[in-house]
Amino acid sequence: MTTCLILWNSATSVEIAAGCGCKCKWWPWRRKDEIRMSGQGNPNGNRSRRALITGITGQDGSFLAEFLLARGYEVHGVVRRASTFNTERLDAIYADPHNQGVRLSLHYGDITDGAALRRTLDRAQPDEIYNLAAQSHVRVSFDQAEYTADAVATGTLRLLEAVRDYTVAGHAVRLYQAGSSEMYGAARPPQDENTTFYPRSPYAASKVAAHWYAVNYREAYKLFICNGILFNHESERRGETFVTRKITRGLARIKMGLQENLYLGNLNAKRDWGYAKDYVEAMWMMLQQTEPGDFVVATGESHSVSDFLDLAASYLGLDWKKYVKEDPRYLRPTEVDCLCGDAAKARAKLGWVPKVTFPQLVKLMVEHDLELAGQETTLTKAGHQVAQRGASQR
Ligand code: NAP
Ligand code: GDD
Repeated sequence: MTTCLILWNSATSVEIAAGCGCKCKWWPWRRKDEIRMSGQGNPNGNRSRRALITGITGQDGSFLAEFLLARGYEVHGVVRRASTFNTERLDAIYADPHNQGVRLSLHYGDITDGAALRRTLDRAQPDEIYNLAAQSHVRVSFDQAEYTADAVATGTLRLLEAVRDYTVAGHAVRLYQAGSSEMYGAARPPQDENTTFYPRSPYAASKVAAHWYAVNYREAYKLFICNGILFNHESERRGETFVTRKITRGLARIKMGLQENLYLGNLNAKRDWGYAKDYVEAMWMMLQQTEPGDFVVATGESHSVSDFLDLAASYLGLDWKKYVKEDPRYLRPTEVDCLCGDAAKARAKLGWVPKVTFPQLVKLMVEHDLELAGQETTLTKAGHQVAQRGASQR
């Protein structure tokens, strides 16, 4: 056990005793206090570690919440008010807050509402924050550019400002910022932490801004912030307007005779697709390091949209060329042709490696969506009216 003294300097907000040699400089929250550090233990006392997740209702947020709960964390999530339920992905872990010992708490808020974010920090008192909230659809960002910038770029800045004040008030916290391989855009593959960003959409440009805000706050205020530069990751919980899920949902419904065609855009684009469950683990690993840093998380393999179609259709015994039609509305004004990540740094420093392979990923998504299509068929045959899910323009 190491003991060190942290000094408070009101001029710079946080000043760290030089040369103490322990790992405490990333926990600069107690004024003139003696702090005892022990390995990765929680420096905020003996209570369970607390995590706050923005975007908890999304694909990654739901997997991350499960992952953290399984590790004994108390998990807090920011949820947007919606006229329909938007917590479906949390159903498996949701518990009535009136019950004893519930470790998942949801707070109404929005990444565009700084006051609510600050209040949530005060209530949740997190040790770790995962900023996953975003308008995350690239094609939609061309239609809603200002909103995308507000949520993705300025939203991150709002959260960083709140976190800065939270640490000044004496709290220790570590922050994960959800960066994206889209930031590389037109940069030639393979892409790693040293590749220059070349964003090709309002979404990607906003993620680049968020990335640099995070770097700046890390350097300016000595905050423990990690940028994860995650390449595409998919799952059975993937939003139904992203291409992988659109394909597995569409082909499974075609197989069951529930729809005739599947309309897609550019089939030549290549992506480095991994499994979302593997990727949320990398987020957590970044925040357990002794020093903050930026990490590419990827499989290192790239496949085209038509490769994905080939594999998904082969699991279903279909010839996709009979059913897939091209629709220009799904094309982007500027496309990202090929993403392929080099995750050597994450492998070396975090010990992170993807577990699920590309064929396994496609298979698990197809199996899941075949089951959904089966349920839809059973209900329809029994005379029930079933609303078509995923009926979207994107
Ligand atoms: P997702 O499924 O689209 O989830 C996005 C989450 O953000 C949802 O919970 C959504 O809430 C929430 N959100 C949207 N606008 C918000 C706002 N104004 N205020 C508060 N919350 C808001 O995305 P994901 O795939 O889980 O990705 C998580 C993060 O990683 C995102 O930042 C994304 O840009 C980034 N990322 C994703 C990938 C990938 O391949 N999945 C790769 C790199 C980076 P609702 O449920 O209410 O819509
Ligand atoms: N969505 C969609 N719909 N994409 C299509 C379609 C279609 O009908 N047809 C072809 N595509 C092509 C797109 O043009 C793109 O080249 C590729 O499929 C992947 O599109 P998406 O699945 O929408 O994902 P993305 O790569 O644009 O963005 C996702 O990954 C990023 C990480 O690189 C999102 O999750 C982003 O939030 C994330 O940052």
